[in-house]
Amino acid sequence: MASGFSEWAERAHASLPAGGNGEFDLPDDLTTVVESGKGCRLRTADGREMLDFSMGWGSVLVGHADPRIAEPVARRLARGANFATVTDASLELAERLIQISPACERVRFCASGTEATMYCLRLARAFTGKQRVLRFEGAYHGAHDVGVTSMFPSRRLEFPAPEPSSDGLTAHEDGRVLVAPFNDAETAAGLIAAYADELAAVIVEPLQRCLPPAPGFLESLRTETRAHGVLLVFDEVVTGFRLAYGGAQERYGVTPDLVAYGKALGGGLPIGVFGGREDVMRLSSEHRHGKATYVWTASTLGGNPLSSTAALATLDVLGEDGVYDRLYAMGSHLRDGMRELLAERSIDACVLGEGPLAQIAFTDAPARDYRSSQHSDKAAARRLMLELFRRGVFLNPMGTKLYLSLAHDESVCDELLERLGGALDEVMAPALA
Ligand SMILES: Cc1ncc(COP(=O)(O)O)c(C=O)c1O
Repeated sequence: MASGFSEWAERAHASLPAGGNGEFDLPDDLTTVVESGKGCRLRTADGREMLDFSMGWGSVLVGHADPRIAEPVARRLARGANFATVTDASLELAERLIQISPACERVRFCASGTEATMYCLRLARAFTGKQRVLRFEGAYHGAHDVGVTSMFPSRRLEFPAPEPSSDGLTAHEDGRVLVAPFNDAETAAGLIAAYADELAAVIVEPLQRCLPPAPGFLESLRTETRAHGVLLVFDEVVTGFRLAYGGAQERYGVTPDLVAYGKALGGGLPIGVFGGREDVMRLSSEHRHGKATYVWTASTLGGNPLSSTAALATLDVLGEDGVYDRLYAMGSHLRDGMRELLAERSIDACVLGEGPLAQIAFTDAPARDYRSSQHSDKAAARRLMLELFRRGVFLNPMGTKLYLSLAHDESVCDELLERLGGALDEVMAPALA
């Protein structure tokens, strides 16, 4: 290893592959060990302060170490961390979720978004008696096989052919996963009709990464799935409680059969929820085992009282007046500022996102799906992300979305914009000159 590494980085590389916990894909010299966070700022173990625009990959929507979440959780910890059964807190949370989520007549808890989408798909297969699943290119639905198939494919295969985005997957092998382009209602409708007899579910991120749904796209998925006996699954792990209190369902006015939640709901603690129609969720009743269609769902930490308490406290904060107006105003301020910086430098790019989410795609045509949102110069885009990281902006250098929180404000966004301007001048402008 190169000398000049901090002692923390040396230790991280000695114990963790790439010195990280997965996905951050930082070069060795930027290996970062975080020690604490407050609001929207992080402190690294070697004493550096960074502006956080990752916010625990969006799991911390209220802000780091906010006493409105931290204090009830600390009090609850003194009463026991986990019982692997229903507690007063998880029951209250289930009741609240059923009020908030248009799709949910019943819910079950797990500990991550990965589990939540996996259970939705298993339920859909069992309920319909069919095996195939249709997903959209470029979406991420968690770490399971379907979740990462065609997540970032490198080849432009003809739809609906899938490409595994990891070794060790099997979902792409026997035609179980079909892939369609996001925002192309016609192609999706054609595939749903063509595979109706074998298709259990269509799973979609209603806002895919940072790509908003085209008018009518989600409505068309709803109509076509219903017409062909296919379940519609919304992966609201990112959009839930973030785009609106009632998530993407409220924002876009479309109600799926099943929905998966995670991230922001848990206030930074591990959480996953899957829920939906009672007649589908009923299949997970254990007394059915061996007698009727039955779906195994279980999670040791699902519904634990600490995560449930954090979720209830998070929902209290998010339920306050004006919260979403603030998140949307801040997001617009950030995205407008980014557009301005790019326009001033005549850089071809789209600024994507809605509400408290933002992402830059260096493309010369409007981005509406995975293929059209690919950077025209991937190497330059990566250099830009790394330069921002060097300038003290904590983000995922894979160029995924920036997450805002209630702890951010317009002046923090302006700090980011200033650093972005400097980074663009350093990295992109010379390339264009
Ligand atoms: C849309 C979406 N679904 C599912 C997941 C998986 O959630 P988790 O990391 O909690 O398993 C993620 C995580 O980033 C996500 O963005």
